[in-house]
Amino acid sequence: MKMFIGASIIVSVFLMIYVFLQYTVINQDNVYHDDEQKGLNKQIVINFSHVVAENTPKGLAAQKFAEIVNQKSDGKVKIEVYSNGVLYSDDEELAALRRNDVQMIAPSISKLSDLSPTWQLFDLPFIFDDYSEAKQVFTGKIGQDLLSTLQEKNIKGLALWSNGFKQMTSNTKPLLYPADFQGQTFRIMPSEVIKKQFELLGAKPQAVSFNKVYQSLERQEFDGQENTISNIYSKRLYELQKYMTISNHGYLGYAVLMDEKYWDSLPEDVKQLLSDAMVETTNWIWTQSKMMNDEQLQQIKNKSGMRVYYLNDLQKAEWKKQFNSLYQSFENNATKQTLDIIQQIKNIESKK
Ligand code: LMR
Repeated sequence: MKMFIGASIIVSVFLMIYVFLQYTVINQDNVYHDDEQKGLNKQIVINFSHVVAENTPKGLAAQKFAEIVNQKSDGKVKIEVYSNGVLYSDDEELAALRRNDVQMIAPSISKLSDLSPTWQLFDLPFIFDDYSEAKQVFTGKIGQDLLSTLQEKNIKGLALWSNGFKQMTSNTKPLLYPADFQGQTFRIMPSEVIKKQFELLGAKPQAVSFNKVYQSLERQEFDGQENTISNIYSKRLYELQKYMTISNHGYLGYAVLMDEKYWDSLPEDVKQLLSDAMVETTNWIWTQSKMMNDEQLQQIKNKSGMRVYYLNDLQKAEWKKQFNSLYQSFENNATKQTLDIIQQIKNIESKK
């Protein structure tokens, strides 16, 4: 009996030591904690909504930004990326940002004219000659100044990202001369300048949100559309469009935005961390997007039945002639700030 009591005491003591260790030493270190266990009630979760596929420049940049932020903050700041418009379509996302239903969006610049008409200047056809010019404008002082004007609208402009040059596609006929556009219907983004561009070509444009483009082309609601190679590739628009003209007539850039009130509510060290991660991601996307568009054009040529044409100098001159009146009327109605920017872009071109 005595032996039994002795053994029970020893077992109980070991048990107590084990339980004590469980709750002190072992739980302090080196044990996996998920976010809730970590007690990260201080964790900041930023929901980033966008409308394109994951394997696009914007989709990949959003993920890269999330990774950098996660790493730099040691998991304290989490960027949740929602792609393909699963949360909000492009015509809903700005309102969702203002309501704080999402905290970050990256709409295409063509969709910002409600915030300020100045942004429309980037929809003028052939405003940029090449990729490096677009980069210089968007990542330099012009871009920075424009982003800071968003403050008046209580929006924090974090960066300008790139997708690339837009190309023309149609399912009806190759688009080489202005006359080829006559009577064709085109899906466009909601932009007065883009609308006029198509009207001057004799076409009928209509704004439709990005997530409905495939569906509406499939239902033959439009003959054609304009977009970057990356969007044409990732949304498989090449399945529904027989002809593509590499025209490089327009540039698709994005403004990465937060609501100003939300931004102001963040701790200073978090703002700094997000800004640093944004600089890194922005540098990355400007290189990556060019590579992706080049590579995916090759894929379209190899894999799809789409016929690809390149606009030659003569054809380009014809298009440009058609757009003269658009430039004139735009400049006649533009603010001084807008005209200054157009002049600065012309100065960059003349120095080449
Ligand atoms: C479009 O509507 O065609 C694009 O703005 C989509 C995007 O975000 O790239």
